[in-house]
Amino acid sequence: MRLLILGGTWFLGRTLAETALANGWQVTCFNRGRSGRDVPGTQGVRGDRTNQADVDRLTTYGPWDAVIDTSVYEPPDATLTAQRLRDAAARYVLVSTVSAYRWWPHEPVNENSLLWPSRPDARESDPDLSAMPGPYAYGTLKSGCEQAVTKVYGDQALILRPGVVLGPYEYVGRLPALLGRAARGGRMLAAGNPHQLIQPIDVRDLSDFTLRSITADTRGAFNVAAPHGHAKYGDLLEACIAATGSDVDLVWADAGWLAEQDVRQWTEMPLWRTPPGTWAVDASRAIEAGLKARPLRDTILDTWRWLQVENPVPHQRQSEHGLAPDKELRLIEAWENERALRCR
Ligand SMILES: NC(=O)c1ccc[n+]([C@@H]2O[C@H](COP(=O)([O-])OP(=O)(O)OC[C@H]3O[C@@H](n4cnc5c(N)ncnc54)[C@H](OP(=O)(O)O)[C@@H]3O)[C@@H](O)[C@H]2O)c1
Repeated sequence: MRLLILGGTWFLGRTLAETALANGWQVTCFNRGRSGRDVPGTQGVRGDRTNQADVDRLTTYGPWDAVIDTSVYEPPDATLTAQRLRDAAARYVLVSTVSAYRWWPHEPVNENSLLWPSRPDARESDPDLSAMPGPYAYGTLKSGCEQAVTKVYGDQALILRPGVVLGPYEYVGRLPALLGRAARGGRMLAAGNPHQLIQPIDVRDLSDFTLRSITADTRGAFNVAAPHGHAKYGDLLEACIAATGSDVDLVWADAGWLAEQDVRQWTEMPLWRTPPGTWAVDASRAIEAGLKARPLRDTILDTWRWLQVENPVPHQRQSEHGLAPDKELRLIEAWENERALRCR
């Protein structure tokens, strides 16, 4: 198989490149050379995906059996690559997101759920989009990217909508923040219900599913998340503590009380989010098509090992994640006072 990855040097793209090489595929990675190095064994092509001349030059390195687009965030950029690569790559795999659904995380979603309305020329800087909360603008733009790719590739397009992706090379900073906090030890604030079911997918399972879908000529749209019942929020925190070998007392604070405090869900408290659809992503279609989800503790252990071995320079997004130590201490003390009052 000959594969083109738009991106390919970090997190999902890097994992896809490594997995494809391990399967004996020939892999070309197209990027600007700013965010990490090409995986050894891949063919690196430098260029900017938003520049037509660069994309046209890329086509001279083809043809490919498939292109996987991990790096598109605005519909006009998706239109450009889909149109210019149409004759060079037989299939187009777009990595979208569950945020493309209009009502995620407020309601459960399956592949037939309503997507955000979008338009082919939408840009993040447009006044209507910049007025939206960031996650909604992101979903709207990704929904527009889906439309753009489908318009050019028709039923040769494969649209993947992952939920939260975790694992080695995660630059976003969710597991790195939780693991870093666990490693510090002491009393650690934990939000809500330890039995809350969660569905993060390991980046390597997402990669395996993507490549398997290309081989099997699978088409259409798929949610990619771990199945319901795969893991609980408490398991996640306990596995972080076990992986780091630290001494931590979890202080579980009531979700309703915490939501009233000045705490940013999903970032300051990674993977904690109260809207009821957050962890109600129906991934049965992908599971029937071969998606496998490894145990969450393996994801956490391997991410901790990666952090120890590579000691990566934190990406700017990582600073959003985790609670500042003084704020955490204040919250723990306030919660203990609140609990004492409730017990009277
Ligand atoms: N993380 C999650 O939990 C999650 C959940 C759902 C969906 N997703 C989706 O998963 C995908 C994540 O992909 P990813 O981890 O591989 O990272 P990414 O941040 O989407 O892409 C980064 C890669 O694209 C390249 N790139 C960026 N801008 C470029 C440009 N203008 N021209 C050429 N190359 C460019 C980067 O290299 P250079 O900077 O060197 O060019 C790098 O190789 C995204 O599509 C995201 O929407 C993520």
